[in-house]
Amino acid sequence: MTLTVTNLTNWMNDFAKKIAINKQLLSDLDTPIGDGDHGFNMDRGMKAVIDKLKDEPKDLTQALKTIAMALISTVGGASGPLYGTAFLEMAKKSTSSNDLAELLTAALAGIEKRGGAKPGDKTMVDVWDAVIPEIKNHSLTQEKINNAVVATKDMVAKKGRASYLGERAIGHIDPGSQSSGYLFSALLETEGIL
Ligand SMILES: Nc1ncnc2c1ncn2[C@@H]1O[C@H](COP(=O)(O)OP(=O)(O)OP(=O)(O)O)[C@@H](O)[C@H]1O
Ligand SMILES: [Mg+2]
Repeated sequence: MTLTVTNLTNWMNDFAKKIAINKQLLSDLDTPIGDGDHGFNMDRGMKAVIDKLKDEPKDLTQALKTIAMALISTVGGASGPLYGTAFLEMAKKSTSSNDLAELLTAALAGIEKRGGAKPGDKTMVDVWDAVIPEIKNHSLTQEKINNAVVATKDMVAKKGRASYLGERAIGHIDPGSQSSGYLFSALLETEGIL
């Protein structure tokens, strides 16, 4: 469970592919309970990330910082600063640890602090919160990721645009949870990381 520049880059390449393939689906999820831009925002951001990583970061901290900056400056919306904060917190933590579970724990704390969402609020926090213990426990599966994403369907949103809808958000999967699901599916598929 050691994160390196190489496996991080492979992970991000896989994530970017999943986002590119599913950008319409993500934006469609964001249409009934948001403003229909999540997939396009994330696709723009991940293309920038892949481009910047080609400059060969000198170490893990620099690589994580590069990802954070690319996301913050290109994704926009609510999710750009939140994903950006996640990678920035990982960058900070990486000066003392390269353990993936520890880095992801720091990332989630950053997302929660920045956005103020808690588990159950129908945001990406729900997926991060469900998945990180499974990573620690070496028990993450695709099914567990899917279950965490689908669990947001029956929730009432407490944060973000979807929170304006109250009960009407029930029945819709949270788009940021779906994109985080792709992040963790990509992780599951990356050799030598888990
Ligand atoms: N406060 C928050 N904490 C955690 N996640 C959040 C928060 N607000 C929104 N999100 C996540 O961001 C996703 C929406 O991202 P998106 O890129 O569509 O931004 P947006 O809400 O359209 O931003 P804006 O309102 O600035 O246009 C949601 O599905 C949710 O998972
Ligand atoms: Mg949106």
